[in-house]
Amino acid sequence: MRFLAFIAILSFAVFACGGESPKEQNKPKKTAKKKKKVDGEKVYKQYCVTCHGVYGDMGASGAFNLTESKLTIDEKINVVTNGRNTMTPFKGLLSEAKIKAVVEYTEKLKK
Ligand code: HEC
Repeated sequence: MRFLAFIAILSFAVFACGGESPKEQNKPKKTAKKKKKVDGEKVYKQYCVTCHGVYGDMGASGAFNLTESKLTIDEKINVVTNGRNTMTPFKGLLSEAKIKAVVEYTEKLKK
């Protein structure tokens, strides 16, 4: 009788374990957050073209000609983040990553 009880416990244990694995599989798969690289060109065309123009040299409402900018990346990030005179501050509008990406894109506009 004792032996039977042992078998019963054992089979229950096996059953219990066996019953757990499907649950495990039903767990929502950890969707690895893709570190998507921000497309600086897209951000530029969405937010900056209105003043700076597609090629950075349109200069609407006194916008600086970006192709002639002598600022460093960090200084540009500062201008884009906090604005300067008539240029809109993009802090709160664009994430840091987007600001960095768009500034890097403006570097490519230089001739
Ligand atoms: C509302 C119009 C406007 C928009 C939109 C705008 N800018 Fe500007 N931007 C300006 C003006 C005007 C200046 C010159 C500011 C000054 O006279 O101090 C300027 C200056 C700059 C400068 C400094 C250049 C230098 O060498 O001094 C950078 C860099 C720049 N803008 C980048 C951007 C980027 C990137 C975006 C898009 C995220 C953007 N701007 C959107 C109007 C704008």
